[in-house]
Amino acid sequence: MELPLVSIILTSYNKANTVGNAIQSVLEQNYSNWELWIMDDASNEETIYEIEKYLDDSRIHFFNSKIKDSDRYKTTRYATLINEALPKTRGKYISYLTDDTVYISNRLRKMVAFLESNNGIDVVYSSQKVLEINGQNEVVSEKIRKTKGILSHAANLVDHCSVMHTKEIAETVKRHFGSYWSDSPDNWHNGDAVFWNRLNLFAKFFPLDDVLDVTYKTPYSFQKLNAYLPYELPKGLLVKGYLSNIFLLENNQRREIHEALLSKLHYDVDKVVTIPDPFLLKYEIGPPIDEHIFRKDHLFPNDRLVTSNHVDIYYIQDRKRRKITDMQTFEHYKFLRKDVVILEKWYLETFVEGPPITVPLLEEHSLPDNILFFDGEKYFLSQKNKLHEIHFLVMAKLNILKNKAVFISDEEKRRFKEGPPFYWNNYYHRKKGRKKKKYNI
Ligand code: TYD
Ligand code: MG
Repeated sequence: MELPLVSIILTSYNKANTVGNAIQSVLEQNYSNWELWIMDDASNEETIYEIEKYLDDSRIHFFNSKIKDSDRYKTTRYATLINEALPKTRGKYISYLTDDTVYISNRLRKMVAFLESNNGIDVVYSSQKVLEINGQNEVVSEKIRKTKGILSHAANLVDHCSVMHTKEIAETVKRHFGSYWSDSPDNWHNGDAVFWNRLNLFAKFFPLDDVLDVTYKTPYSFQKLNAYLPYELPKGLLVKGYLSNIFLLENNQRREIHEALLSKLHYDVDKVVTIPDPFLLKYEIGPPIDEHIFRKDHLFPNDRLVTSNHVDIYYIQDRKRRKITDMQTFEHYKFLRKDVVILEKWYLETFVEGPPITVPLLEEHSLPDNILFFDGEKYFLSQKNKLHEIHFLVMAKLNILKNKAVFISDEEKRRFKEGPPFYWNNYYHRKKGRKKKKYNI
């Protein structure tokens, strides 16, 4: 009997260390009738170099999305790549793989045997081993994601690397929804779960209890970096992506901070937040923060404490210098002497004088930017003279420390407008009642 063809869709982005193992694990299957679609999302050279080693095998096909970095955040990229691959596949069965996962050698054989001997079953899934590794590639934790019986609601219970389904059921989904996977950017966190909801309309997931794939969670794993990250990031945040360059977010731009300037401007490197590349690269590149900023009009960064004579201290906001009127105010805002940057007098004088900062906050005052306020119950971050409620889990994510919070009385608070809150994506939607449905499709 001829063995049916299995089409494997491997999505890849910048995982030079592990993508080769993923491909190798397909080559080492004890089942030979497969085709592999390597869907690469315009990875770096190192990653492409690893992939190219395998392209001589006629069963392996390579596709490079050539996506522009600035467009990366616009869709859930792996879903977009899978949608691109599916019409090209010729297999009776579809199987997914990511660049940080390996198949156990009998995975295809076992899953095909199960589907072939159970007519009418369209989806099979297996247990998965999850290994968490640190930056040095050492395993720091290990767990088994066990199968949970026959599933009518597989969302968030099954990873896409643990599934095989018929091509036919994918076509049914496409006919019904107009697309295979939903690649809306809302689904970055759990695109597979959203597709499972679609599949579950027509089919149940049947378990094979063996562990048939091993997946690695790295410190750069999307899910980890994305957890509790708000959709809009506060300006003034220090961020980095997969590469080590550090950026300051200002005016919807990312400004690279050169190493020497980090200490010169008293930035705390421990505060830098690592975010997924798609969310970093969506910001256009702004003027770098390098030695040139100390020349006239060279865009000294905001939210810095500065002085030239060690007595008068200013807070830079909107490119203006706001004088901190007295020590009481300085202490009220929990500013620290060690954070004050010493500037040359002539240079400090190039800044236009802004409204002074003083306490208590009155009607005519404008809020100092990027101060964490606390009203006894909730936290708020000030941005552009508005108070934005910030969830404590988002604060933890963004390395904003609770002990820096400045008390704001209800009376003071009423004098300022509230802006949109900093919530993480799904939470925000839930709050707005937009995603009432229990099972999002
Ligand atoms: P990954 O970082 O492994 O996230 P997690 O394991 O936490 O779910 O990314 C998942 C998949 O998405 C992986 O196969 C690579 C793919 N991907 C892209 O195709 N483009 C991108 O820009 C990113 C960030 C990921
Ligand atoms: Mg992964």
